[in-house]
Formats: sequence, C-alpha cells, structure tokens
Amino acid sequence: MRVLVTGGAGYIGSHTLVELLGQAHDVLVLDNLENSSPVVIDRVNALTNGNLEFVEGDIRDDAALDTVMDSFRPDAVIHFAGLKAVGDSMEQPLSYYDTNVRGTIGVLRAMDKVGCTRIIFSSSATVYGEPVYLPYDEAHPTNPTSVYGRTKLVSEHIISDWANASGGTGILLRYFNPVGAHASATLGEHPDGVPNNLMPFIAQVAVGKRKALSIFGDDYETPDGTGQRDYIHVVDLARAHVAAVNFAQGAKGAKTFNIGTGQPYSVREMVAAFETACGKDIPVVVAPRRAGDIAAMQADASLAKAEMGWAAEHDLNDMAASTWAWQSANPNGYED
Ligand code: NAD
Ligand code: WQD
Repeated sequence: MRVLVTGGAGYIGSHTLVELLGQAHDVLVLDNLENSSPVVIDRVNALTNGNLEFVEGDIRDDAALDTVMDSFRPDAVIHFAGLKAVGDSMEQPLSYYDTNVRGTIGVLRAMDKVGCTRIIFSSSATVYGEPVYLPYDEAHPTNPTSVYGRTKLVSEHIISDWANASGGTGILLRYFNPVGAHASATLGEHPDGVPNNLMPFIAQVAVGKRKALSIFGDDYETPDGTGQRDYIHVVDLARAHVAAVNFAQGAKGAKTFNIGTGQPYSVREMVAAFETACGKDIPVVVAPRRAGDIAAMQADASLAKAEMGWAAEHDLNDMAASTWAWQSANPNGYED
C-alpha cells in the first residue's frame, strides 16, 4: 500500500516508518520538523530499503497537503502530526486546536480531493480522564481534563463523522504511555528541554544530564504509593499501526482501539527496571503530586487483539534496556 505519514519524523512516527517499510509499503512522510530532525529520515533509510520519501511541510498548509496528496496518491494516511505537551496546551489552547483539530480537518479534506478513504489517527488514553473503572475499555466514558486531551477527543469525533458521512474508514488508536527505542539504538525519543515524561527524565538522570528524578507523589492508593501507568514499547506501538493499516482495508466507518499492554507499573518499578538496565543507581527525591495526575490507569487492550490481531510483545526490561541503549549512544539526541 501507499501510506502517507504525517509527523513521521517524530518519536512514534519514526519507529512506525521502519515497520511499514519492513512490510514493503511505499511510504511518504510529511513533517514540518517542528519537533524533529531531518537526521531521522537518514537513519530510517539506513535501517530499511532506503526508499522513504520525505516532504518538509505543515499540515495546516492546504496547498502543501494538496500537492503531496496529488503526487503521492496514498491508499491510507497515518496521522501523527500534532502538538502533545499537556502543560503547553493549557497555556496556548488556540495553537493546540489549530494544529491538532484544524490540521486534522485539513488532512481529511485533502484526502477527499484525491479519493483517499482511510486514516489511522494518533489518539490518546488521556481522552478517558478520571477513571470510572479500570482497566479502561473503549466504552469507558470520555472526559479529558486538558486542552490537549480535548483536541484529541474532538479530532476523534471529526474523523468518525467524516467516516460515517463519506463511507471512509477511521481507525482511532488510543495510545497509553509510549516508551523505549529502536533495537538499533539509532532511533528514540529526545524531548527538547526538561522532559515532562517519566522515562526520558530517568534516562537523562542515568547519563548525568539531570541530578535526580522527582517522584511526583508517593502517597497514592497504589501498592507502593507511586503512580501506575500502562507503558508500551514504541516498537509494539509502531506495529499496531501496521496492523491498523491492514485492518482498515476491510473496515468501514470509525473504529477505536486501546493500544497498551494491560500491565501497569509504578514509578518506583520503572526506576528499578532502569537501574537494572543501566547498572547504576538513579537518585530520586519525593516531590508533591503533579496537578492533574491520576493515581493509576491501564488499558484493556483485548479488542485490538481480537479484531486487528495485534498485541504487545515487549516487556518492561525491553523498554528500559532499549531506552538506555538509545540514550547512552545519543545523549544529545539527533545532534550527535
Ligand atoms: P512527536 O512530537 O515526536 O512527533 C510529532 C511530529 O509531528 C513531529 O515530527 C513534528 O515535527 C510534527 N509536527 C508537529 N506539528 C506539525 C505540523 N503542523 N505539520 C506537520 N508536522 C507537524 O510526538 P510523538 O510522541 O511521536 O507523537 C505522535 C502523535 O501521537 C501525536 O499526535 C501525539 O499527540 C500522539 N500521542 C503521543 C503520545 C506520547 O506520549 N508520545 C501518547 C498519545 C498520543
Ligand atoms: C507517568 C508517571 C507521573 C515525571 C502523559 C500525558 C498523556 C500521554 C502520555 C500524550 C506519573 C510520574 C513523571 C517525573 C514522576 N501523552 N512522573 N516524575 O502523565 O501518564 O501521560 O504522557 O498523549 O496525555 O499526560 O505520563 O510520563 O508524564 O508520567 O514521578 O518527572 O510518572 O506522576 O505517575 P502521563 P508521564
């Protein structure tokens, strides 16, 4: 298939490119490089058949979208491009709605013009909000607590309405907490500035860029008092997109899938796994709870297995070991 990947130079996108090219799909990336590096494209080409096409452009630029759609004529779009920092979204709501929501509308319009009927969308478990029950299944009520979460939920509705009206197919993937890196240690996550997320922060402590991890609260109602999340290896997540592209060929309308492992780990368990992987102690300090955090969450990911034949294969050790291999080989990310 011919697959257009928006935001393909980013963390999850780059790993997905490797899996798509490995399955002999033809792939074109559209990315404005706002949160990524062109080095990613070279590294993906080095890991694969070298046939990746790349166009630097913005999903909010209708003319750029039309040009790419017209020349590439995709059978499906995987739509990763977007902004993802929860804190920033509360300070710059219009920018988040513009990129995440208006950008998604632009992608759908451009697809319509060339008769492309399938989209795989990067949604997030954050659309569920405070758990009413756990594990979250796809029928759990949605009540996002951040602007970021609302941009994802609104985009889900837009894609669903579009699919129902047009006879198209929208696969809405609700990712849990992506971590880890490619086994080659040449692709991984490198946040700008101070990492917001746990795993990159731990990794930067391990290489000596940060002094200690602040554990945001150790008085939650969890077995060790620290927050529990459903961490998913980015290569498993990438493979979920390949499964979704295949599934979309035989599906109509919108379909939502949780993409997680179903196995929650606490902050202290993540630190312990990383210490084993890197062979060093990770200094920690206990800090107050972070505003907006919930105690625990995990996925019921059984629907993705039943319908798409996808399930996570990598365990916690793989997540920690691959992160350490990437971080230690590329302490400055793609600038090395
Ligand atoms: P990322 O920032 O590494 O990748 C996003 C890519 O989109 C970047 O390469 C960036 O340059 C590009 N981009 C941003 N705005 C663009 C625009 N206007 N036009 C073209 N390209 C643009 O993020 P990621 O972690 O790979 O996340 C990918 C998607 O998955 C995002 O939509 C994110 O919201 C979603 N998601 C991420 C997580 C997570 O924890 N990483 C969890 C759930 C959902
Ligand atoms: C995990 C756990 C923290 C950092 C976020 C977004 C979500 C999704 C994934 C995009 C929590 C604790 C963290 C630190 C800590 N992204 N922690 N010290 O908050 O579950 O999800 O990323 O869709 O929308 O909200 O992930 O990695 O930030 O936190 O103790 O320095 O680690 O309190 O328990 P989160 P996270």
